[in-house]
Amino acid sequence: MVGRSSSTGPQQQQADVFVIFGITGDLAKVMTFRSLYRLESRGLLQCPIVGVASRDWTVDQLVERARESITATGEQLDKTIFDRFAARLSYVHGDFADAATYQRIGDAIKGAECPVFYLEIPPFLFATTVKGLAEADLIKTGRVVVEKPFGHDLASARALADDLHQYIDESQLYRIDHYLGKMGLEEILYLRFANTMLEPVWNRNYVKCVQITMAETFGVEDRGHFYDPVGALRDVVVNHLMQVVAATAMEPPAGGDPETLNYAKVALFKATLSADPTAYVRGQYQGYRDIEGVAADSSTETYAALRLEIDNWRWSGVPFFIRTGKRLPVTETEVRLVFKDPPRLGLGQWGARHAEPNQLVVRLDPSTGIQISVDARRADSMRPESITLDMEFAEEGGEGPTPYEVLLHAAMVGQATRFTRQDGVEETWRIMQPLLDAPPAVHSYDPGSWGPTAAEGLAADSGGWQGPWA
Ligand code: BG6
Repeated sequence: MVGRSSSTGPQQQQADVFVIFGITGDLAKVMTFRSLYRLESRGLLQCPIVGVASRDWTVDQLVERARESITATGEQLDKTIFDRFAARLSYVHGDFADAATYQRIGDAIKGAECPVFYLEIPPFLFATTVKGLAEADLIKTGRVVVEKPFGHDLASARALADDLHQYIDESQLYRIDHYLGKMGLEEILYLRFANTMLEPVWNRNYVKCVQITMAETFGVEDRGHFYDPVGALRDVVVNHLMQVVAATAMEPPAGGDPETLNYAKVALFKATLSADPTAYVRGQYQGYRDIEGVAADSSTETYAALRLEIDNWRWSGVPFFIRTGKRLPVTETEVRLVFKDPPRLGLGQWGARHAEPNQLVVRLDPSTGIQISVDARRADSMRPESITLDMEFAEEGGEGPTPYEVLLHAAMVGQATRFTRQDGVEETWRIMQPLLDAPPAVHSYDPGSWGPTAAEGLAADSGGWQGPWA
């Protein structure tokens, strides 16, 4: 649960140094350097950056790695901006279990009052690293940002938190879920409560069901070693898609501080019943078992569809359907509210038509937008039909920052709402735990299909799966 309480609230203080553990790794190569460079170009980097890893590199090697990594992502490199970014970099090498490494880090960040340590390293090293920082007296103030996953079930998430809370307070611990850095997620919450015409119908009185779809056309490819012990439920549902559920279903926070917002979110999770394995369908695309790193008899799911129930005044009786999968026909993430069926209409010649229920869709990926479907007659048709009104947020607002830019910047300025808190993490594991404990058999599906046919039955009583928008 929540650890020691802090007195001085390090959350709002700006980082005066950003220390990256694992800077020679893959995530840094594909994501971190580019994000930091883009923050630099937008004038949002304010502090030195210290890379830490076990390889015996010089700072010049690190700068070269940064240059190559950024260019490889397709980003156009501006020399002045890159030079300014490179001038911030320094490097400490050493074993994460060796006290001498932390002495060297201490020398590199001397005088820092709000160091931010970003651990883009395997989770089994989190505790060793935080202990090393604490024993070298480097983490009395400041923050520690950890990459996903945070545990692989409820018990391990608790154990990891207990390990870390020995050395740092919960308010210093920022867990990454890159969905919290995505455009679209905040928009859902904003849209719901900033529009008087939406909030009053956003509940069980008007909504028949909520459908959340996260579909990906690509497969597991070169990530077999990572993916096979994990599967879709742990990879994206317990974390990313539960954040989408929260934004869709939570009550508005009563105040703008991070704690209040997190309590509102956790209240929603607490009202969500533990998932029912009989309302859970697992699929695996054909060809998955041939991937390097995947067991020949693997029963890991690359597709998951499930129903959740939220037992509170707003949502009681409204099923929340979630589906996600690799190798599906489109790449898209959306939330869809399907409203209740209108009654029979006594409207002469058009009364015979049963009007389609309204739907409201918020799309998060590949671009953000909103779509509303209404049943109406168009000028160019003889009869009413379901027509859609849609708007892309991006066309209006231009290209936004990527999730990692948002998150790294949030870590530097102490915006805790962009990170998950332990009580919320435990609740989402609690909700999914019955599915982990008693997983149903996995069904095979064709790549490019919408997953196993068994999943169709899940939403049948609510009119079946709808969409997606794409
Ligand atoms: C990652 C998962 O966390 O999120 C991947 O490990 C998944 O399997 C990815 O593809 C999806 O993120 P995004 O931002 O591309 O929707």
